[in-house]
Amino acid sequence: MRDASPQTIFLADYTPFGFQIEKVHLTFDLAPSATRVTSRIRFAPNPEASDKTFFLHGENLSLISAKIDGQAVTPTLTPEGLTCDVPSIPFTWEAEVQIDPAANTALEGLYLSNSMYCTQCEAEGFRKITYYPDRPDVMSVFTVRINGPHGTLLSNGNPVASGDCWAEWHDPWPKPAYLFALVAGELVAHRDAFTTNEGRSVDLALYVRPGDENKCSFGMQALKDSMKWDEDVYGRAYDLDVFNIVAVDDFNMGAMENKGLNIFNASAVLASPATSTDMNFERIEAIIAHEYFHNWTGNRITCRDWFQLCLKEGLTVFRDSQFTADMRSAPVKRISDVIDLRGRQFPEDQGPLAHPVRPESFQEINNFYTATVYEKGAEVIRMLHTLVGTKAYAAALDLYFERHDGQACTIEDWLTVFEDSTGRDLSQFKRWYSQAGTPRVAVTESFADGTYTLTFAQSLAPSATTPDPQPQVIPIAVGLLAPDGSEAMGTQVLELTQASQSFTFSGMAEKPVPSILRGFSAPVVLDHMADHAFLLAHDTDPFTRWEAGNNLARASLIATITRGTDPDPAWINGIAGILTDANLDPAYRSLMLDLPGQSELAAELHRAGHTPDPDAIWTAVHGLKYALSDAMADALPALYAAHQVSGPYAPNAEQSGKRALASAVLTLLTRQDGGDQAQVQYDTADNMTLQLGALANLIRAGRGDAALARFEAQWKEDRLVMDKWFGLQVGVAEPDDAADTAKALTQHAAFNWKNPNRFRATLGALAAHHAGFHAKDGSGYALLADWLIKLDPVNPQTTARMCSAFQTWRRYDTIRQSLIQKALERIASTPDLSRDTTEMITRIREA
Ligand code: TRP
Ligand code: ZN
Repeated sequence: MRDASPQTIFLADYTPFGFQIEKVHLTFDLAPSATRVTSRIRFAPNPEASDKTFFLHGENLSLISAKIDGQAVTPTLTPEGLTCDVPSIPFTWEAEVQIDPAANTALEGLYLSNSMYCTQCEAEGFRKITYYPDRPDVMSVFTVRINGPHGTLLSNGNPVASGDCWAEWHDPWPKPAYLFALVAGELVAHRDAFTTNEGRSVDLALYVRPGDENKCSFGMQALKDSMKWDEDVYGRAYDLDVFNIVAVDDFNMGAMENKGLNIFNASAVLASPATSTDMNFERIEAIIAHEYFHNWTGNRITCRDWFQLCLKEGLTVFRDSQFTADMRSAPVKRISDVIDLRGRQFPEDQGPLAHPVRPESFQEINNFYTATVYEKGAEVIRMLHTLVGTKAYAAALDLYFERHDGQACTIEDWLTVFEDSTGRDLSQFKRWYSQAGTPRVAVTESFADGTYTLTFAQSLAPSATTPDPQPQVIPIAVGLLAPDGSEAMGTQVLELTQASQSFTFSGMAEKPVPSILRGFSAPVVLDHMADHAFLLAHDTDPFTRWEAGNNLARASLIATITRGTDPDPAWINGIAGILTDANLDPAYRSLMLDLPGQSELAAELHRAGHTPDPDAIWTAVHGLKYALSDAMADALPALYAAHQVSGPYAPNAEQSGKRALASAVLTLLTRQDGGDQAQVQYDTADNMTLQLGALANLIRAGRGDAALARFEAQWKEDRLVMDKWFGLQVGVAEPDDAADTAKALTQHAAFNWKNPNRFRATLGALAAHHAGFHAKDGSGYALLADWLIKLDPVNPQTTARMCSAFQTWRRYDTIRQSLIQKALERIASTPDLSRDTTEMITRIREA
């Protein structure tokens, strides 16, 4: 068990480690409950460090023996590691420890998943494998010998030699321990090859469990596309002779960028048309790219300490979003990213878990793999890119790779590169890294004598980590439209640096209509009483045009919820026009039907001084969709028919766009035909996108039972498809049914709660069902709390992540607040609660 009184770690306290490591040799003698790990590490005093305390991290290790330069030593052991007297000249440390992978349910360190050995070391898992300075600024060259079972034996770097039940690997690139990986078990390889632009031929392999061979080809193609893209766009070539990916069923997150040996949650890599939706394919392509791109942004240049996590994650998310934009539709990717940011990051910024992109303290680093660090971190880099321009960005990145290759860096290093290569002063821009919260930008306009003036006022609400917010540099991309809808001024990027600032545009014949925050040029909330219907009809920027529809919908919903008004015909007419506009990309049209999230509406109501009622929000959202469906009733069958895909399934942007639009239309159509078309689609579906879309609508129409049973019978052997079956039932349940549905599913024989994918499919779906989770009787809160209490001792990391479902509790009425407080209190008072969950619950309750 972890220690009961968790310690807070501060960025300001950073000091370098007292020793450098020249090389590491590890030997693994694998056995399920008694694995032996022998380490031989060459240490030398670090001239940069004043503190020469020899402390090695180590948790849950049985130390068998320790030696320095061949002489047995007796280190002082604590629950966190060991200290030992060491020479003041270079020396060799040798230790043998025993660990128990079979008992490791936390999925951190070395563990077993379906009798396959695998590791997860980021952020601090290596200390559960052997004694080591487990910190990212200690980098070394690793050689690994695996004595294991029959089958595949993998580690980082290049294969050196292998024989019957053994293999040796050598990684020539110095790396921190968090990038170490080992995999051993009965696996089958899907192989391919890639030749880099430097002429290196690389053997590629995707290792999966027997039976999953037919789900590899898409991921492999995505890998090759990523390798090529990073050469073409960033000039970054791969640097080893092999690149291996392994699919694992039990995994806490999406995937991990271990050097030369990426380990993936099976859900983030395995795909086939029959078992995966278009959305799955797109996500898999993006995650493969993300992990591959880490080879340069993360591995070759890593983080000095975990406070700098956004250095690798923000940059790598930005890079994978550029990749997806290039591979598919740039506007669709941008809008999808904004939807995701508002759904996951804005709530963090608005609540008790608010933290800067670069936090300054933490108790458990696992709790800071957040939407703020990743997605807002990527937005910050996107703003830099916007401010300096594409060419200067490319030059700065070249300098970054040249100057810092092989180093463990900070945000200061990163910004200095940009300052040196562009000559810009980025000291104010740096506030994006240190201030928590989402800035709001209020817009006012005036027009006189042909001069149009836009005034922006920025504000940032004080929070626990940012009590005294200062103005930030906000790039605001603006275009101006003439009253006839033509473009009066193309996009210009305005740099807002003051608390309040005006920009003038002269020579205007008439007062223009502004299109503000084109491309979502900054992660802010815009307060602007714009003519949304006009912008929805005429804006030339795909993002702000989509945003106009979104704003109209939001205003209509808020009016319905607070004043009982009918749905706004301006939204219905505008959207109907867009849906039937054959000149527009179908994927883009389908996004027009994506209404503001219900949780987002609750936040908006709360801010406006109302107490959000989740049931009223649910009713208003459905009322708006029904009104659109009724208004478009006659057009729906033809619209549906026009977007059927003929020919063999392909998960590309063109086909998946058509299917996305047809699926959105099917939902509207189901209200009209009671599910008849959905039944036809279900019966004839030859891919998972169509099958699952049809199933969702059959359930909504109240006639899903037969199809659900058929689906289960068809897919009961497929773990990833069954996750969809669990998740969908909760996701589309009526609000007062969602908790009962989730509860019943937790009793299902296939509810394997120790598997994070299954747990999240079921209970994560409940947390994401706004009205269902917030059911007035507290049944949603109670069910989630019960399961989090049960999961915590088994898997603290997944438990802690899911606690964020409670982060918005202050928004709701006093009855719901006290029900949530009771649930939180119950979790908090659980004996031996993990450090991870303790920190999350404490932060959520304290605010
Ligand atoms: N570095 C991984 C990524 O973003 C994230 C990750 C995977 C992770 N598994 C983890 C982080 C376990 C913490 C713990 O690509
Ligand atoms: Zn990452």
